[in-house]
Amino acid sequence: MDKLVIDGGVPLRGSVDVSAMKNAALPIIYASILVAGKCRLENLPDISDITISFEILRGMGATITRVDDTTIEIDTENLVGSTSDKDLVGRMRASYYLLGAELGRFGKSHVGYPGGCDFGVRPIDYHIKGFEALGGEVTTDSEYITISAPLGVRGNGVYFDGISVGATINVMLAAVLAKGITTIDNAAKEPHVVDVANFLNTCGARITGAGTDMIKIRGVEKLHGCTYAIIPDMIEAGTFMIAAAATNGHIKINNVIPKHLEAIAAKLEEMGAEVEMLDDAVIVTGGETYRKTNIKTMPYPGFPTDLHPQMAPLLSIADGVSNIKETIWPERFRYVKELRLMGANISVNEDTATATIKGVGSLHPARVRAVDLRAGFAVLIAALMTAGETEIFDIKYIERGYEDIVKKLTGLGAHIKKVPVTPDDMNGMSQKIG
Ligand code: EPU
Repeated sequence: MDKLVIDGGVPLRGSVDVSAMKNAALPIIYASILVAGKCRLENLPDISDITISFEILRGMGATITRVDDTTIEIDTENLVGSTSDKDLVGRMRASYYLLGAELGRFGKSHVGYPGGCDFGVRPIDYHIKGFEALGGEVTTDSEYITISAPLGVRGNGVYFDGISVGATINVMLAAVLAKGITTIDNAAKEPHVVDVANFLNTCGARITGAGTDMIKIRGVEKLHGCTYAIIPDMIEAGTFMIAAAATNGHIKINNVIPKHLEAIAAKLEEMGAEVEMLDDAVIVTGGETYRKTNIKTMPYPGFPTDLHPQMAPLLSIADGVSNIKETIWPERFRYVKELRLMGANISVNEDTATATIKGVGSLHPARVRAVDLRAGFAVLIAALMTAGETEIFDIKYIERGYEDIVKKLTGLGAHIKKVPVTPDDMNGMSQKIG
């Protein structure tokens, strides 16, 4: 077990390259099951959720060969459905894409329950409703979700009661090889939904409308292999933008799609940072002081829930009282306890899923935990902007979704190191390290 030790208060300066988007790369890896052949995937991030996905697919008979640091070849021809390892599947959220991909290729699926970051209930009822509309009969027990389609997978109209990235992608996966036409109404419009559709279309699928709230999928007989490069991670880019502002730094963030960053850029500018968009990069210059603001998380193109926790430390040093209303994951406030240990003044109204953050001028160092992926980066931003030595435990959550974080931050001038947790840490933090 390792911890991060950060000697903060140093403005971030220089340039950093954004890795590929985790939440696009993961479903594309599972989508390769539908190809039943070889694909070359480029620009993959080296993070633990990707490594676990490779383990799951290798265990099912896929051959995965590393070409270079960011490229793999995956051959799913001999993959056997319904054989995924339940424990590995339970270590990450995106493993639920096995359901749609297996149903699409084999007409049935048998998969353990997905895991992932724990910030409240994460239902999959929309996914199940979508599979049923396509002819799937779904049964669940305490360990497995099982789907069969005795009459085959057939295209149909699917309407979602709420907007779900996962359910939209999963139904797309189940529908590309189905007989007939599937329409998904009230579909998620996130860039990762578009990227998965683009990957599938490059393999011969016929999907139109991805990026709008109505997606149409004309089933095809089979897919063929392709070479595909994953889009850059807008959440990683947004996280660095916030870190630049919070440390009063000046950084150029390379390999971005500026259009994806409009919501976060608008908020940072409103607070007093300078944001300059280039063709495939963004430059953020911090301000000496920041104005309060209010944030409401929304599906794309609204303010992303996956950048909510990272904004809390910045709002903690703004003038006045700010609010963050969380509309996607109402319990995503576990970072609050950790930021309070650093002196933040944050209260949470659970009924309205709103955090109220009173600006306190500055925070102080502490020993804190990364309680989930984005919450982990929230305390990391707090540590970077705070003079003195902060220690962050449970960093496996940060490593689940951010690539090479020590190297990237060191390149921006941060004083950060990853060191093993000591027996003293274990005693002192026994209530905290888990
Ligand atoms: N929902 C349902 N029923 C469902 C599915 C979703 O009620 O069957 C609700 C959820 O409870 C939530 C909302 O719909 O309130 C949106 O959930 P969504 O399905 O969009 O989330 P997801 O697909 O499980 C992905 C990302 C999350 C990100 C959300 C929202 C992956 C692996 N995860 O989750 O990423 O927060 O979309 O954009 O793609 C992260 O990267 O830190 C992360 C949590």
